[in-house]
Amino acid sequence: MKEKTVYLCSECGYENAKWFGKCPSCGAWNTMSEFKVKPEVQTRGVLQKPRGLSKPSTLSQIETRDEERFLSGIGELDRVLGGGAVHGSFVLVGGEPGIGKSTLLLQMCQEMCKNATVLYVSGEESLRQIKLRATRLKISPPSLFVLAETDMEQILAETDNLAPDILIVDSIQTVYRAEVSAAPGGATQIKECAMALMQYAKSHNVTIFIVGHVNKEGALAGPKILEHMVDCVLYFEGEPSGSFRCLRAAKNRYGSTNEIGVFEMSDHGLLEVENPSAAMLAGHPADASGNCIACTMEGTRPILAEIQALVAKTAFGVPRRTAAGVDYNRMVLLLAILEKRAGLFLSGSDTYVNVVGGMRLDEPAVDLPMLLATVSSFRDKPLPEGVMAFGEVGLTGELRAVSAAAQRIQEAWRLGFHTCIMPRQDLGDKGLPKEMNIVQVQNIAEAIQAVL
Ligand code: TYD
Ligand code: MG
Repeated sequence: MKEKTVYLCSECGYENAKWFGKCPSCGAWNTMSEFKVKPEVQTRGVLQKPRGLSKPSTLSQIETRDEERFLSGIGELDRVLGGGAVHGSFVLVGGEPGIGKSTLLLQMCQEMCKNATVLYVSGEESLRQIKLRATRLKISPPSLFVLAETDMEQILAETDNLAPDILIVDSIQTVYRAEVSAAPGGATQIKECAMALMQYAKSHNVTIFIVGHVNKEGALAGPKILEHMVDCVLYFEGEPSGSFRCLRAAKNRYGSTNEIGVFEMSDHGLLEVENPSAAMLAGHPADASGNCIACTMEGTRPILAEIQALVAKTAFGVPRRTAAGVDYNRMVLLLAILEKRAGLFLSGSDTYVNVVGGMRLDEPAVDLPMLLATVSSFRDKPLPEGVMAFGEVGLTGELRAVSAAAQRIQEAWRLGFHTCIMPRQDLGDKGLPKEMNIVQVQNIAEAIQAVL
């Protein structure tokens, strides 16, 4: 049969019979590349099925068992998944190479194997390497089967033979379907392989985890192709130099996407960080200027983090501003508010803001601590010891209420903080610690006056 030529965008997977300089779907330039596709692959899918195989049904006709889940035994991972992996779900674990995806999934097998059969397919490592890694992690899951294979047909044939409850494919970039004439790792192969796995997961009620490497731009290779196909997208991220790793759900059909899991990479694999606040605050200098403790909500969990600021005289004409761990534009906005509403002239100073421990704080509630850290550095005066702050700052310099204030106060109290600077808002009576000194302020001038 004659091969057909299609053009595929490597960014978003858009497909067309014509070549475009600019992808009509995602707008990226120069990403369309040519692929030869055999017609049987082109016209595969539902349209080819004989009639009568699938029938419409009402919701009440559909039989379901209770949403059953596999627990991984790793509390942080289960929380991000929304309480374990749902049977028959399709989960994508993404992250930069070397961040610890394979380690996490292998560690997960230890507990899952207790009541499930797991098949771990690796296209990147040999069986010996997997064994060595398991030995290093000190795990020997009894019903874990490993397979080093990259051919999709082989993988699915072996999966059929073994009939495991859980299938792990590490990674989607290394597997390929022989009848698709495109290189493994390209958009076409990724799309075809993920589609085959998705159909397998749904038809055989097998839970499938796939690993996807994220490219330098921070997007999964062909991100949109994969994201709409899977039930959950988990991103594993962290500063390459630091040992903390954060697992976030970017999409979850079976739970919230706000939860994060915090891990630390050690000699014996990933350790759960059950008390991230304490870990983030380790080494916090009590009497240095230019730092303030913030409390951010990650899903249902309050986490304390230290924000540092350094304000120094500008050596050249234009002041430098850099932000790590907080939004750059938000920081510049806060500096403008400080200048306009609190009379603090920072236009002759370089300003650097950093969140210790490589955490990323994207919540408006970190406005106030960021601002206090900056003022503290500007005046070279440390905040009093034991102070924590949270609150959103408005453009007129007013402080706006934030959610879950009581929880933030409780977390700060638990870690030994005794004063909390916060916006004026109703706290209710949800068992707040009585000894906590809660200072409610209306605007930034009041906040600065309260502590500096
Ligand atoms: P890995 O899980 O192979 O990353 P990925 O699958 O995301 O590419 O993790 C590799 C890194 O983790 C590697 O740099 C070494 C480090 N590591 C440890 O520090 N301790 C360990 O016990 C293991 C297994 C890996
Ligand atoms: Mg790996």
